[in-house]
Amino acid sequence: MKRVKHILKSTFTIATFAIFYSNSSLAGEAKEFEGAKPDLKIESNNANFAEKYPLQYQSWKATSESDEIVYALEEDPRLVILWGGYGFSKEYNKPRGHFYAVTDVRNILRTGAPKDEKTGPMPMACWTCKGPDVPRLIAEKGELGYFDHKWAKYGSEVVNSIGCADCHDTTSQDFKDGKPALRVARPHVLRALDAIDWKFENLDKHGKRVAVCANCHVEYYFAGKENAVTFPWDKGVDVDSIEKYYDEIKFTDWTHKLSKAPMLKAQHPDFETWSLGTHGKNGVTCIDCHMPKVETKDGKVYTDHKIGNPFDNFEHTCKTCHEQSKETLQKRVKEHKAQIKDVMLRLEDQLVKAHFEAKAAWEAGATEEEMKDALQAIRHAQWRWDYSAATHGGHMHAPDTMLHVIATGLDRAADARTKLAVVLTKHGVETPIQFPDISTKEKAQKIVGLDIDKENAEKAEFLRTVVPQWIDEAKQKGLLPADAKQ
Ligand code: HEC
Ligand code: HEC
Ligand code: HEC
Ligand code: HEC
Repeated sequence: MKRVKHILKSTFTIATFAIFYSNSSLAGEAKEFEGAKPDLKIESNNANFAEKYPLQYQSWKATSESDEIVYALEEDPRLVILWGGYGFSKEYNKPRGHFYAVTDVRNILRTGAPKDEKTGPMPMACWTCKGPDVPRLIAEKGELGYFDHKWAKYGSEVVNSIGCADCHDTTSQDFKDGKPALRVARPHVLRALDAIDWKFENLDKHGKRVAVCANCHVEYYFAGKENAVTFPWDKGVDVDSIEKYYDEIKFTDWTHKLSKAPMLKAQHPDFETWSLGTHGKNGVTCIDCHMPKVETKDGKVYTDHKIGNPFDNFEHTCKTCHEQSKETLQKRVKEHKAQIKDVMLRLEDQLVKAHFEAKAAWEAGATEEEMKDALQAIRHAQWRWDYSAATHGGHMHAPDTMLHVIATGLDRAADARTKLAVVLTKHGVETPIQFPDISTKEKAQKIVGLDIDKENAEKAEFLRTVVPQWIDEAKQKGLLPADAKQ
């Protein structure tokens, strides 16, 4: 453990990586939104940096090599039932390279098929982690001028995928001199970091490196009528603290189509789970594994911007600290993944049953009072499942935490099903009830009332008519080069 010793000795581990919480309630929520900042110039066109920083640019561009789309609902139709009544039951895919963020948010069925800037279904918030045009727009229009619209309002403005100005102050002298000049330019992220005592300008270089990923790889919700992206971290970043936060403000993402439970959707609490895992606690950052320093043939050292699977770069990542072979470590991570997947699927099965049992109870005439506690238990159980499922790489970043989260989810699911059994019996329904066939995505989508052919047709029309207009307008405004293909 060569470098680890050095890291453990350095004070930053203690100083920066402890997460403290303020006692004031809802410190992460905006009391006042920031207005426009005309002085903050953000260059969002990534291609403009190609010439000056060819090594960083080319390796950044190589995120396009991770182009495979994995359709998660087809792999596991249970997800359609778990998200019944919510957009995720239409389409959900595993993440791929940063290069595709803008394309993927346009293509996914969840963002629907708006015809003009006033039609829905989604708000502007859905662009927020897609690229550097977002901090540019917030600086130009203020937070409300950005958030308080439908998603289609700025379709011709958010056109560059996650890039240089998301992480760097590209107009600073330091950046011109070839230094990183890391920056977080989204005001809601700076507020949330303040709330956990991670004030950006006070962080050392390791803290700043993690903070740039926390722009996006975090749990968040859309607060208030403005649908402003807000992080629920005031009580802590672990699964219990965030659940408590949402319960106290009585927040729900949606009411479940079958069970009518008041549901929460976890996003991707990657920063949160990393901070709870062994590497996070030892001050090993996202950058150590996903963006290592590498060397050109003639010995020039630079940061590899091809963010992807660290095992592809083993010599520069794990190997800098660990003495074990790639095979040994990869096997370890695979074992963790298999164990976590196994219990995660068991929790999914319990939850699917609970949703159908609650539906049967409603149909048998159960009252709100009778159902209340069971529905709350479903909410908590599914929140725990989703916190572990939505955090990408959780089996690597914090395997013990994942197992604990899922175990407590199984406990809450058992609670829900015990309570539902009592209600069902009271209303003369024999248990076990008959569970419908959900063996394919199509069957499951019918059960939750989706007309997926219609959704697909509308999306195709949107991609054929509206998106090309957005791209033309973006070229006219100079946001994209004239020959850009999108
Ligand atoms: C997701 C965040 C992220 C994106 C996107 C990103 N960078 Fe970086 N960049 C980093 C980090 C992290 C470092 C290393 C910081 C450190 O060493 O403390 C870095 C380092 C650098 C450096 C300093 C020299 C070096 O190689 O270490 C330059 C120059 C740079 N990046 C240019 C770019 C350019 C140009 C783009 C766009 C094509 C870009 N970066 C996109 C996060 C990012
Ligand atoms: C501006 C928002 C944003 C920032 C900043 C950001 N990410 Fe991402 N990241 C995303 C989105 C969105 C995706 C999914 C893209 C898709 O599937 O279209 C993603 C995908 C990924 C993936 C999966 C890549 C693959 O090929 O499967 C990894 C790994 C990742 N990010 C790590 C990081 C790390 C590490 C940092 C910090 C250095 C970081 N990201 C910064 C938004 C961001
Ligand atoms: C100790 C090394 C390490 C650290 C630190 C680390 N990661 Fe990872 N991460 C990995 C490995 C390895 C994988 C792939 C696991 C696998 O192969 O199953 C991964 C997977 C991911 C994925 C999922 C990629 C996908 O395609 O599903 C994302 C996203 C991600 N990491 C983001 C982050 C962020 C953000 C941070 C910091 C907050 C971080 N990682 C810190 C090693 C690390
Ligand atoms: C910058 C140093 C550093 C890097 C890079 C690093 N690790 Fe670690 N790793 C540590 C430290 C420190 C520990 C904790 C050791 C302890 O507790 O004795 C650790 C522990 C582990 C453990 C055991 C704990 C657990 O969470 O299961 C595994 C497995 C592991 N690392 C895998 C990896 C893999 C895989 C990579 C590359 C993707 C990697 N590490 C990269 C420093 C590092």
